[in-house]
Amino acid sequence: MGKKESKKYECIECGYTGTTWSGRCPKCGAWGTIEEVLALPSEDSQMKSFILPLPLHEIKSPSRLSSQDEELDRVLGGGWVPGSSVLLAGEPGIGKSTILLQTCLRMAQKGKNVVYLSGEESPSQVALRAKRLGIASQNLKIGSGYNIDDLLAGSSGSDLVVVDSVQSFTSGDLPGLPGTPSQVRAVAQKAISSAKQNGCTVVMIGHINKEGLIAGPKLLEHMVDTVLLFSGDRLSPYRVLRAVKNRFGATDEMGVYEMLDKGLFAVNDPTRLYWRNKDEKVPGVTVTPVVEGSRAFLVEIQALVATSPFPYPKRTAIGVDPSRLQLLLAVLERRFGVSTISQDVYVNVVGGVAVRGPQADLALCAALASAHHSRPVDPSYCLIGEVGLAGEVRPLPRITSRIKEAKRLGYKRFIISKGQELEKIEGVSLYKVENIKEALEEVG
Ligand code: TYD
Ligand code: MG
Repeated sequence: MGKKESKKYECIECGYTGTTWSGRCPKCGAWGTIEEVLALPSEDSQMKSFILPLPLHEIKSPSRLSSQDEELDRVLGGGWVPGSSVLLAGEPGIGKSTILLQTCLRMAQKGKNVVYLSGEESPSQVALRAKRLGIASQNLKIGSGYNIDDLLAGSSGSDLVVVDSVQSFTSGDLPGLPGTPSQVRAVAQKAISSAKQNGCTVVMIGHINKEGLIAGPKLLEHMVDTVLLFSGDRLSPYRVLRAVKNRFGATDEMGVYEMLDKGLFAVNDPTRLYWRNKDEKVPGVTVTPVVEGSRAFLVEIQALVATSPFPYPKRTAIGVDPSRLQLLLAVLERRFGVSTISQDVYVNVVGGVAVRGPQADLALCAALASAHHSRPVDPSYCLIGEVGLAGEVRPLPRITSRIKEAKRLGYKRFIISKGQELEKIEGVSLYKVENIKEALEEVG
C-alpha cells in the first residue's frame, strides 16, 4: 500500500519548515513567505553513494586555483578549491556579476577553462560588460538560458563555472518559476553535484534582500562550502568582500575594492579609505588600528552626544556592534561618571567599515567621553585596547602590526594596556595605562 506523501512547507525568509501552510510564518512572523517544498527526484544516478576508505597518504589534496584577483584569493584562503561550491551573496547592484566576470576573464586569459552562465543577461549583454572591463580574453565561454541542467551538462571539463544567479535558473526536474525556494534549492543542488562530479569550482551568485538575508531558502548557506558576502554603500565606490562561511579557510580576511568605470579595483591600502590625515581637534574623534585577517589598517571613530528630546534616548551605532556600545556606555557611566542617560548617542566608523569584536573599545570610550565633555582628544595619539566591565584596559592580539601600521602613517604616541607584552618598536612612545581614566588623562 502506498503511503500518503505528506507535504512540507518552508518559509523563504527564515527557513522554518512545517507540515501546514499558513499566511504568516510562525517563526519569523513574515507574511506570505510560506511555500510548499517540492522534493527533488533522487540524486543523479551516476554519483557514487560512497567512496572506499583510503589511507591518508593515498588521498590527494586538491591544489587551489588562483582567481587571478589578489583580494579574492586572500578571502578564499588561497584561491578556489576544485570540487567545491561557493555562494557569493550581496544586494542587487553591488557588483557581484562584475567581480566574477572579471575573475573569469583573467582566469581564461591564463588558459583556464571558464564558463559564465547567466540567467539574467543575454550572452551579448555579458560580452558588452566584458568589453567594458577591458580584459581581453577570447577563451571565456558565456552561456545563457533558464534551464540549469542543460547549461551545466554543456560546461563539463571546466575549471570554474559561474552561475549568475541561483535565483534566475530552473531545474527541469521541477515545476515552478525561477526563484521559488524549491527551484533555488534544486538549482543549487545540481550545481553543487556538478562541481563534485567534475572536480570544478562552482560559484553561485545569490541576491540578498534588505534585511541581509539570502533570498530563497536559508538552507542554501548550509549546502555550499563557502559563503562570500559582498557589501558596501551603493552611493560610495567602495566594496568589502568577506567570507562568512569557509570550509577551506579562515573567515577573518577582508577584501576591499573600489568600483570604477572599468570594473572593480583592489584597494591595497585600506587605511586610505577609513582614515583621513587631519590634525584638527574635534571633540568625539579618535583613531585606532584594527586587524582584519592578515591586515591592519587605521579607522577613525566618531561619536556625537546630544541632549535627547525623547524620553528614551537614541543609541545609534554604525560600524560597531550596538550591544558593545551599550556595554561601554554603562562602563563609562558606572566607573567614570560619564553619564549619557538623557542623551542621544551616535557612533560612526568612517568609511563604512564594520569593526568586529572589542578591538576598538578604548578608542570608542575615548571618543564617547570626549564628545560628552566637548573636549577633543589630542590627535597625535592612537588608542589601542579592549575595555573590561571594571573599566580596565586590556591587551589586544597582533599589537605589533597595529602599531606599525599607525607608525607608517605618522603616529608616534600610543596608549596601550599595562598588561600588553610587545617587542621593541623603534621611534614610538608607548603610554601604558591601567584603566580608561588614565588613558583619558593622557590624551585629554
Ligand atoms: P553588477 O555587477 O551588475 O551588480 P550585481 O551583479 O551585484 O547586481 O554591478 C552593478 C553596478 O556597477 C551598475 O550600477 C554599474 C556599475 N558598474 C561600474 O560602475 N563599473 C563597471 O565597470 C561595471 C561593469 C559596472
Ligand atoms: Mg548581476
